[in-house]
Amino acid sequence: MCGVVGIIGKKNASSLVLEGLKKLEYRGYDSAGIASFYQKSIQVAKSEGKLVNLINKVNDLTKDNLYYDTSIALGHTRWATHGNVNIKNAHPLTSENRVAVVHNGIIENYASIKKTLESEGYVFTSQTDTEVLPHLFNKYLKKGHDFLQAGRLVLKDIKGAFAFVAICLDFPDQLFVSRNSSPLAIGLGEGSNFVGSDAQSINHLTNKIIYLEDGDYALIKVNNIEIFNNESNKIDRKIINVQSELGLITKGGYKHFMEKEIYEQPSVIPHTISSFINPKSTIDIDLDKLGFSQKSSLIICAAGTSYYAALIGKYWIEQIADVPVIVDLASEYRYREPSIFGQSSMLVISQSGESLDTLMALRYAKKLGLKTNAIVNVEGSTIDREVDYSLRTKVGPEIGVASTKSFTSQLVILFLIAIALGKKFNNLKPPKIESYVSYLNKLPRAISKMLELESQIITVAQAIKNANSVIFLGRGYLYPLALEGALKLKELSYIHAEGFAAGEMKHGPIALIEDKLPVIMFLIADGLEDKSISNLQEAHSRGAKIFLFADKACIDKAPFAHFKIEIPNFSDEFKSVLSPVLMSIPAQLLAYHVAKERGTDVDQPRNLAKSVTVE
Ligand code: M6R
Repeated sequence: MCGVVGIIGKKNASSLVLEGLKKLEYRGYDSAGIASFYQKSIQVAKSEGKLVNLINKVNDLTKDNLYYDTSIALGHTRWATHGNVNIKNAHPLTSENRVAVVHNGIIENYASIKKTLESEGYVFTSQTDTEVLPHLFNKYLKKGHDFLQAGRLVLKDIKGAFAFVAICLDFPDQLFVSRNSSPLAIGLGEGSNFVGSDAQSINHLTNKIIYLEDGDYALIKVNNIEIFNNESNKIDRKIINVQSELGLITKGGYKHFMEKEIYEQPSVIPHTISSFINPKSTIDIDLDKLGFSQKSSLIICAAGTSYYAALIGKYWIEQIADVPVIVDLASEYRYREPSIFGQSSMLVISQSGESLDTLMALRYAKKLGLKTNAIVNVEGSTIDREVDYSLRTKVGPEIGVASTKSFTSQLVILFLIAIALGKKFNNLKPPKIESYVSYLNKLPRAISKMLELESQIITVAQAIKNANSVIFLGRGYLYPLALEGALKLKELSYIHAEGFAAGEMKHGPIALIEDKLPVIMFLIADGLEDKSISNLQEAHSRGAKIFLFADKACIDKAPFAHFKIEIPNFSDEFKSVLSPVLMSIPAQLLAYHVAKERGTDVDQPRNLAKSVTVE
């Protein structure tokens, strides 16, 4: 989603803003822009497509003396919401060469504000909701307000989820910033200050970060930052020292971040495991904080891949701990008047910790009186800060838009929660607890073995790369994994794909089967494998091309399969209970290789964003 960066007090502010924007690229965007002041005028450069286009443009303009790098600048990567992808709609947006604004989020009441502003003579040049912001600033400045007062009045007028940065020619030594539900971090420098959509975007400039809270606004000068809360009281927000993770943000010899992140799993998952299993091999998860001082049911909310992790978590927690779990899409939860009968807490799952839908679900749960907990990867993210208890996956930055290592690490924490709850509520006896914990310790090595299947998976990728549609099937733990496999494939390769519970096929989806339609099944002997094989047979009989990923016990049960990949040999219970983690590796590699075969943008697929900060 959109990213913003602002800098004041650094000689080459524009170049540094472009560097910051580079670090926001992973979020997904379709155009970019930058603005600064030069000789009492706002200079703006914008471009469609990748950031490199903007960088080249700024370089050319600089060479021709049409752009000057000065000590104040703001920049933006835009993920279109209101208005097409074009230069006019790209940010920064300006008003009468006086104010420039970059914005992430949506101004929900922009239409009525726009109407009023137009009747007052303001000319709109874009189709965006954002453009009301510079015009509103201008309107209040014209009435004689200073930048801070004008900003306050703008905030009174607007509704929605937003984070924005404004500059004004009349106050060339000030940035006005504000946030409401969209993330924004202020960075503290010496003789300079910064603002960015996340700490990472400004960590080439400082490690000292202040996260604004909802409704906060601030006036940032070179040597001074004044922060106000939503009641306009001056307020001090905590300064946090963030560790620079920049060193980790390279492709490390891989072609894509996604490929690197898939291959990192055996080395980063131990970080997740070791932060929750202490040297005595007991699990360090505070179940009281999690809302389980006594047995109750749990609601888990999430979106996308994190939602599929939640579904797998439900299977584990119900089977291992006999604790009822309800899983809901975060975007549905707060609008459906949910019953909280029997629940004391909500768990949200979010890699980024910024998904607005998930954030809103947790805020709603708080209002309902539930404790809130999260599984997040990004420390310091809004969700990480707002929940009562945060369980961090600690797998390092995930740059590829597709969730890979964050998904498997979320699963690890969910499995740990299941064991801890099973122990607490006496559903799991000691030998079982120990063997489950030992399974986790074996997991990284097992993932490495699964990665060795890559060359066979490339063959499958080549076989399905031209399909119009692909069906994924799974049963039990592998049903949510089928959903995840389909999501991965569609988001990376743009091939239509759907996942189904194998047993559901005959209740409708089987109508989709036509000659040569690829049907992919993940299968592990779990006592129900013969039923799954029958489901596969039914698809085959109607012309489907069958691709089977299965263990030794099942692989020969589908002689009709077009292509079979036998997974390495692991002990029966280990491979069965941790099958969704093991099978996520072929699902990820398959999506990756189909995308590569088709030449799509693996790390930043079209229309997608890493951090989904709008509803
Ligand atoms: O950061 P989150 O885990 O909250 O993100 C949720 C989804 O937007 C995310 O999982 C999305 O589905 C990914 N692109 C999946 O690969």
